[in-house]
Amino acid sequence: STKFLKDYAPPDYLIKDVSLDVTLAPKGARIASLLSIEPNSSTVAGTPLVLDGDALRLESIALNGDDLEANRYTVTPGKLTITNPPVGPFTLDIVTLCDPEANTELSGLYLSNGTYCTQCEPEGFRRITYFVDRPDVLATYTVRIEADRETAPVLLSNGNPVESGAIEGTGRHYAVWHDPHPKPSYLFALVGGNLASIHDSFTTASGREVALGIYVEPGKEDRCDWAMESLKRAMRWDEERFGLEYDLDVFNIVAVSDFNMGAMENKGLNIFNDKLVLARPDTASDADYTSIESVIAHEYFHNWTGNRVTCRDWFQLCLKEGLTVFRDQEFTGDVRMGPVMRILTARLLKARQFPEDAGPLSHPVRPASYIEINNFYTATVYEKGAELCRMLQTLLGQDAFRNGIALYFERHDGEAATVENFVNAMADASGRDLSQFMRWYTQAGTPEIACSLDYDPHAKTARLRVNQVVPPTPGQGSKEPMHIPLKVGLIGANGDELPLKLKGELVPDGLLEVTEREQVFEFEDIPAPPTPSILRDFSAPVRVTTSLKPEQIEFLMIHDSDPFNRWQAAQTYATDLIASARGTGSTSARSARPRPAALRKAWSRPCATETLAPTYRAETLKLPSESDIARELGRNVDTDAILTARDTLRTNVSAAMADTLSEIYDTTATDGAFSPDPDSAGLRALRNAALDLMSATGTDEATDRALRHYRDATNMTDAITALSILSQIPSAARDEALADFYARWQDDPLVLDKWFAVQARAARPDSVETVHELLSHPKFSLKNPNRVRALIGSFAMANPSGFNRADGAGYRFLADQALKIDGFNPHVAARLLGAFESWKTLEPRRQALARAALQDLARQELSTDAYEIVTKTLGTA
Ligand code: ARG
Ligand code: ZN
Repeated sequence: STKFLKDYAPPDYLIKDVSLDVTLAPKGARIASLLSIEPNSSTVAGTPLVLDGDALRLESIALNGDDLEANRYTVTPGKLTITNPPVGPFTLDIVTLCDPEANTELSGLYLSNGTYCTQCEPEGFRRITYFVDRPDVLATYTVRIEADRETAPVLLSNGNPVESGAIEGTGRHYAVWHDPHPKPSYLFALVGGNLASIHDSFTTASGREVALGIYVEPGKEDRCDWAMESLKRAMRWDEERFGLEYDLDVFNIVAVSDFNMGAMENKGLNIFNDKLVLARPDTASDADYTSIESVIAHEYFHNWTGNRVTCRDWFQLCLKEGLTVFRDQEFTGDVRMGPVMRILTARLLKARQFPEDAGPLSHPVRPASYIEINNFYTATVYEKGAELCRMLQTLLGQDAFRNGIALYFERHDGEAATVENFVNAMADASGRDLSQFMRWYTQAGTPEIACSLDYDPHAKTARLRVNQVVPPTPGQGSKEPMHIPLKVGLIGANGDELPLKLKGELVPDGLLEVTEREQVFEFEDIPAPPTPSILRDFSAPVRVTTSLKPEQIEFLMIHDSDPFNRWQAAQTYATDLIASARGTGSTSARSARPRPAALRKAWSRPCATETLAPTYRAETLKLPSESDIARELGRNVDTDAILTARDTLRTNVSAAMADTLSEIYDTTATDGAFSPDPDSAGLRALRNAALDLMSATGTDEATDRALRHYRDATNMTDAITALSILSQIPSAARDEALADFYARWQDDPLVLDKWFAVQARAARPDSVETVHELLSHPKFSLKNPNRVRALIGSFAMANPSGFNRADGAGYRFLADQALKIDGFNPHVAARLLGAFESWKTLEPRRQALARAALQDLARQELSTDAYEIVTKTLGTA
C-alpha cells in the first residue's frame, strides 16, 4: 500500500528508554526488551499501542512487570497490539525470538560469514524486536549481549562500553553497552563475532579522548590502516569546517562481507560493507582508496547530520543523506581531489540521477509517496539532495551557510526534523527568502535551461536570455519555475575574462539568480562579441542548451578559465561528434559538424599541459561514455550504433594523439613504493588514462603494451586498468591476464569481484553468454550482494551494448536473475531492476523487448520492493 507524506501524524506513544538483553544463537536469537513508554501529549486515553514486527516469534509479554493477560493484546509476526494501555507512563517486557541464520534479506539481525551483525535502516529493527519502528521515536538504549565466548569473542553495540565478563562455567560471556544519546531505532546496531581489530585514538578539539577501533575478519587486519587514517582526517575536518566534534568515548567500525548497501551510520558503531574498508596497495585501486575515504567520512559525518538531528519520517530522507553527501563531497574536494572533484560529482550526477529524473521512476528529492521506502535510497535523494545543499551554499555564501548549519543544530539537536526546519534555519541565518527554493525539494525532473546571447555593437551590451522549463514527470504535470544559481562568464576574443556588469554593478563570482521562466540579463561595457561560459562549476543540477557553434565550443575548450566548463566543453564537443555520426538517431540541432582535427588539437592542449594537475589532465583524456551519449540523445537509442561511433572517434583521437599519449605514458611512470596520496594517485590516473586511450587503436602493439603494463604492475590500480583494457580484446594476452589474475586472487573475495566485474563490463557481442557462464563458476554466489553486483550489476549498469543487445537476451537475463534473487533478498533484486529505468528512450525494437521482459516479471509473484519498481517502470503502478 502507498504511504503519503501528507498523512504524517505524530506517534501515539513515545518510547523513552530501551533496555535490551540479547542472547545470540544462530537459529534462535532471544531478545528480551524492557521499554519505558508514555502516551504522546495529544493521545486520547485508551488508544491502542501498535508495535511493528517482522518475522518475530513472541515468547512472553509483561506490562509494568506483570504478565499480560491474553485478552489485552493481539499478536502476529508483523504486529503486536496492546489493546487498552495505561493512561500514564508504563513499561513493557517483551521477549521474542528471531532466526539470524535464515535471514537472507540482510535486514535486522543476520549472520555474515559467521559474524552476527545488524542493519536496521530503515525498517530492520522490527525484525529484531517489536517496537514503534519509526524515526521520530527517540530513546536511550542499554544493551546487554550474551554469546558463546569461542565463536563470538567480540561483542559490540552503540555508545560506550559499561562492563563485560565471563558467565562462569558456561563457555559464554557478555558485554553491556550504553548509549546516552536518544536515537531512533534505525540507528541501533549490534555485532558479535570472531573479529580481529586495529585501534587508535583521536583527541577532539575540546580535549575528549576517543578510542577508535576497526573490526574485520581475522587475517584482514593489514588492510585497515587507510580506513583508520581516513576516519581521523574526517574527524578533524568536521571540526575545522563545521565546528562539529565527536560526542562519545568510543567510535567503532565493523566490516562485514554480506551487506546490502555501502555502509551504515549506527551511533558509535558504523557497520560497513568490507569493500569500503579493506585496502592494501596490491588489493585496492586508487578508486577504492578514494571511495573508502569518502564513505568512512560520510558515515562519520552522519553523527551530526542524521544522528544528533535525525529525520521526522522517511520522506525526509534527503535531510540527512543529501546534506551528508554534500559534506563528504566537500571533504573529498578539500583533502584529495581539488577542482577535479566537481567534475567527478557532476559526472556521477548526470550518469545516475539525470536518467532517473527523466524516466518512469522520477521522484522529488523529498518524495510525496512511496510503496517501499527501501526503493528511495536513490541518486535523486542522495546526489541531487547534495546538490540542493550545494546550491544553498552557493546562494548564501560559505559563511552564511555555515551559520545556517549552526542554527539548525542550535534549534534541533536531539530532535527528529524536517526539510522545512533545515531550510528555515538557512533562511533565518542568512536573511534570505528561500520559499521559492523549496520547490527543489518538491518538484521532480531536471530543469532545462536554454541560453542565448545577443551582442549589440552600438550599445556595447551583451544580452543573455535564459529560459527555464521543468519537464513533466510521473504524477507532476505542470511545474513552477525554480530558483537557480547560474554561474556565468563572458570571454573576449583573446581569451580574457570580461568583467560582468549589470546596471552598473559588478556581478560577484558571475553568479546570476534565475527565478523566472524567462529572464534577460544585460551586461554592459562589453567591447566586442564575447563567448559565453554558462553553468560554471556546474552551479545547479540542470541541463543547459546553448546556441554555441562548434568553433565557440573549441574556443571554450582552450580558453575557459573555469576548469569545470573547460572540461565540459570538450565533453560536449565529443558528444556532439559521436551523436551526429550516422545511425545514432541524432536530432542534434548544432548547425555545423565539429571537426575531428579540431578535437585533436583542442584535446592535445589540456592533456599535454604540464602545469595542469595530472588528475585533471587524466579527466580530459576520457571520452564521454556510451551512456553519456545515450542520455544526450534521449530518444530512439541504438546502443550498438553508439558503441561503434564512439569507438571510431576514440580510434581517431588515439591515432592522432599517439605521440602525446606515449610521451605522457613514458614520463609518468612512478617507481618505488605505492602511496595512495593524491599526487601519486593523480600520476597513476594520468598514465592509465593515456594507456587506455592508446589501446583504442586495437593494434598488436597496443595489446602488447597493455599486457606489459599488467605484468609490470606493482599495485591494483595498474593491474586492473590493464586487465580491463585486455578484457575487451579477445586475444592470448587477454586469456593470460585473466587466468593470472584468477590464479592469484581466487581466495580473496573483494579482489575476485573485480575479476567478475571486468568480464561483465567488456563490450563484446557475446557478453550475455559470458556472464551467463560465469553464473555457474564455482566462486559465484547469488547470496553475496557484492558478488551479485560485480557480475550481474556490472553487466546491467556498465555494459550498455551487452545489456541492450538487439535480441533482448540481456533483458531476459537480468529479469531471470532478479526474480531468483527477489525470492530471498528483495532489496538487492529491486536495485538490479533499476537497470530498466531508461527503457523508454530506446529505439522501438529494443523498447518492445524490454517491455516484454518487464511485463513477464509483472506476472510473477514479486516482493513489494520489486513490484514497485516493475510496475512504476512499466507505468502501470
Ligand atoms: N544510511 C546509510 C547511508 O549512509 C544507508 C543505509 C541504507 N540501507 C538500506 N537498507 N536502504 O547512506
Ligand atoms: Zn548516508
